[in-house]
Order: sequence, then C-alpha cells, then structure tokens
Amino acid sequence: MSTFRATSAERGTTLTGDAKLEFVSQLFDVVAHRYDAVNAVLALGFVDRWRRKALSAGLVATFAPAFARGRRVFRRGDSVLDVGCGTGNVTRFLEYEAMNYLALDVVGVDCSKNMIEEARRLTPGEAKYEVGNAGKLRFADASFDCVTTCYTLRNFSDVPETLREMFRVCKPNGTLLILDAFPPTGIFGAVLRLWLRFVLPLVGALMTGEKKAYAYLGTSIERARTPREVADELEALGAEAVEISALFPFGAASAIIARKPFDGSSK
Ligand SMILES: C[S@@+](CC[C@H](N)C(=O)[O-])C[C@H]1O[C@@H](n2cnc3c(N)ncnc32)[C@H](O)[C@@H]1O
Repeated sequence: MSTFRATSAERGTTLTGDAKLEFVSQLFDVVAHRYDAVNAVLALGFVDRWRRKALSAGLVATFAPAFARGRRVFRRGDSVLDVGCGTGNVTRFLEYEAMNYLALDVVGVDCSKNMIEEARRLTPGEAKYEVGNAGKLRFADASFDCVTTCYTLRNFSDVPETLREMFRVCKPNGTLLILDAFPPTGIFGAVLRLWLRFVLPLVGALMTGEKKAYAYLGTSIERARTPREVADELEALGAEAVEISALFPFGAASAIIARKPFDGSSK
C-alpha cells in the first residue's frame, strides 16, 4: 500500500524526511486532476488572487514600499525557479499571461509527477517543468535571479533544508518570494480554523473522493510556521530586506520577500 494510503492525515503532518516526501508526492498525485478546481471552490478564488498579487510587482509597491524602492521582484529577462510548481500556475502567470511582457524564463520543479503532467497539459508552448525534490535541487549555486514558492512550505519534508536550497540557487542580489497560507489568528481565525477542519475535508471529499488529502491540507495550515518564523529563518541564512506582507487579515495568507546580498553565500 502507498505511504499516503497507509498514513492518517494527522500523522501525515508529523512526518519528516523521505516519508514526508513520499506521502506528499502521492497525495498530490492523487488530487492533481482536480487540484485547481477544488482550490477555486474552497478558497472562493482567493488562492489565485493572492498568487497573482504576490507575483505582480504591484505587491511590492503596495505593501513594502521601502523594499520596492530598492528593486522590483522581477526584472526583464530574469531567470526564475518556481519550487513546488504544482500545476504550473506561477509559470503561466509570469511567462504566458499577465507578466509575459517581462520575458521571464521560468523553470518549475515539483515532486509529484501527476502535478507536473497537469502543468504540461495546461501550459501552452515549451514551458520548463521537471520532477524534483525541493530539498535537493539539482541546480548549481547562483543559477536564478528569482526563486519563488507558493503554498508549499508546510508540505516540504524539511523546511530549513529547502529554504537553504532556495537561497543557494538564488543569484547574489536576487530575490526570494514565498507565498503561503499561515495559521490564522484572532476571533476570525477561529472561524477559519473551523473551515479548515470541517468544510475543507468535506468539500474536498465531495469533489475528489479524497477526504484524507484535504483533512491533511487543513491541518497542515493550522500547524504551519508563522510568517515571522519563516522570515527569521531567511535572515539566519543571510537574506536581507526581508519583508512580510499580509494579503489577508488574521494571518491567513502572507507573502515574504527577501533579497540575497551580493556576498550572499549561505551561512
Ligand atoms: C499546495 S501545492 C501548490 C502548487 C503551486 N505552487 C500553486 O501555487 O498552485 C504544493 C505543491 O508542492 C509540491 N511539493 C511538496 N513537497 C515538495 C518537495 N519536497 N519537492 C518538490 N515539490 C514539493 C507538491 O507536490 C504540490 O504540487
């Protein structure tokens, strides 16, 4: 039996290392064909809206003006690595849709071969997608101007190792951009937690027949690191100008943008 089938949603959130990689790869293999449709319904379109907002240079100007003065997230012709690319939403937005005027060159990596297949099916042209582990990227040091990752952190088998890898493959003066759902706080956070615990698994089950996958995804958000913790980890790696931008009240979604300094060898 597969690790995903043999492991409860609760246990899935506590796995680490190869077991987590296997669990998560198999989970996303199972839901790949309905992944975007379920997201659109469950998050009322917010997941896509936040992704677009975080990726567009507008976010920097709106939420982090001090940082925006220094540089924009993407410059014309930049090479971009999208870690945990899933069905290729980041590649399509950057390379084929709203930001295609920047002529970015995007590579997407994901551990789920079915998500990569969906990405290839949904993306026109010769988009670059490959199966790979975020914790052991095959790219040389300083390969990309920008490294992005959206809605992935809590799924990684080893978050510090993955942040280290993202930092390593980023060029000096390059940008790291992380967008994710984080544990909701406050009174409204309690409502969101009920949504994550009960509505998400139910709707996920109705749309895909895979209740466990969506129970895991809800629990993983509740147990995720906070944006501040992720920012601290980036700073410990040597990242500069680390900015947290809340995209939704009560901490439900935030973007973290950081720059690798010119002398930015990993600490
Ligand atoms: C919630 S999806 C987000 C997909 C995409 N970034 C988006 O914005 O729609 C998380 C993705 O991370 C991938 N993932 C999780 N752990 C990974 C790892 N260790 N290496 C590569 N990809 C990973 C999963 O397979 C999945 O496709």
